[in-house]
Amino acid sequence: MDIKQLKHALIDIETQARQAVEAASTLEQLRRVRPRFLGRKGSLGQLMATIRDYPPEQRGLAGQTLNAASQAVTRLFADHQKRIESSEVAAEASRADAFDASLPGVRPPLGNVHPVTAVQWEIEHVFQRLGFTVEAGPEMESEYYNFEALNIPAMHPARDLQDTFWLSNGMLLRTHTSPVQVRTMEKFGPPIRCIVPGRCFRYETVDASHETTFHQCEGLVVDRNISIANLIAVMRLLLREVFKRDVKIRLRPGYFPFVEPGFELDMSCLICGGSGCPTCKKSGWVEILPCGMVHPNVLRYGGIDPHEYTGFAFGLGLTRLAMMKYGVSDIRVMNSGDVRALVPPSRLAGSMIVEKQ
Ligand code: PHE
Repeated sequence: MDIKQLKHALIDIETQARQAVEAASTLEQLRRVRPRFLGRKGSLGQLMATIRDYPPEQRGLAGQTLNAASQAVTRLFADHQKRIESSEVAAEASRADAFDASLPGVRPPLGNVHPVTAVQWEIEHVFQRLGFTVEAGPEMESEYYNFEALNIPAMHPARDLQDTFWLSNGMLLRTHTSPVQVRTMEKFGPPIRCIVPGRCFRYETVDASHETTFHQCEGLVVDRNISIANLIAVMRLLLREVFKRDVKIRLRPGYFPFVEPGFELDMSCLICGGSGCPTCKKSGWVEILPCGMVHPNVLRYGGIDPHEYTGFAFGLGLTRLAMMKYGVSDIRVMNSGDVRALVPPSRLAGSMIVEKQ
């Protein structure tokens, strides 16, 4: 049997195993069909014994293919066993006289989380599914990473775009999460797919929409052939997952020294659905995230050859997103310690509660 035939045979066996497993309605029946597939004389076991007949250079592949199939079949059995067990427990429990005091209770999830934490978990979840890592960097940052390595030299007017808290030791409080871009390039080299949720600081006068302390989530992708189309696709997916519906997006040119071209990404206003309301200042669009293609100089600072690699970056305002999602209209609430602004577990996605508690 050559590898191709082997693969076909395995597909057949998996189908048969699935049918046999699903036909079993008790643990005893399930136990009885198992050797037919997984036993030494079972159909998979027999194929295992033929591995040594393959020419040496094919033996590895044949082995891997068989192992994968046998894992899949093992999983079929394990999953179905759980299903039978839980239905047996349920049947037992529904008997009027049944009360098993030894069963563990259902533990109610405890503790409310901050809206920023809630969206952060959600975003981490979305991006981890896309193969992104979650990175971090220091809040007390050097001038080099916060500005210079982002193509903002000393005396450059762009430094005034972000009012900075300078510290007496010559360091600063990072004004954005972007310094972690070059830090991550240095740490891992290409290819990179990461997000960086984190706290940032700016010397601002505090009012309903400005805070000195807020959260951003940086995103960075560097690889061969990364284009604006990739950027748009990822952003659309992100917004769809966060807002649980398809949102319309548009790009406008935007200036940031560390991206070229740079964009402001707008999404259709969720309050009025795009027809115009006070929240979107009657435009139907709200500015949601700045982004762009990583500037070649920034790649160079990170030790990456811009002729070989390209990338995109975005700077999501986590605090802003949390306010939109959870309907907080005054940013000062976010750092106030007011427990009424917290998000109860019942409003978190189920997967987040299981993962984080
Ligand atoms: N760091 C920028 C800011 O805080 C946002 C940004 C990030 C823009 C990444 C483009 C790319 O204003």
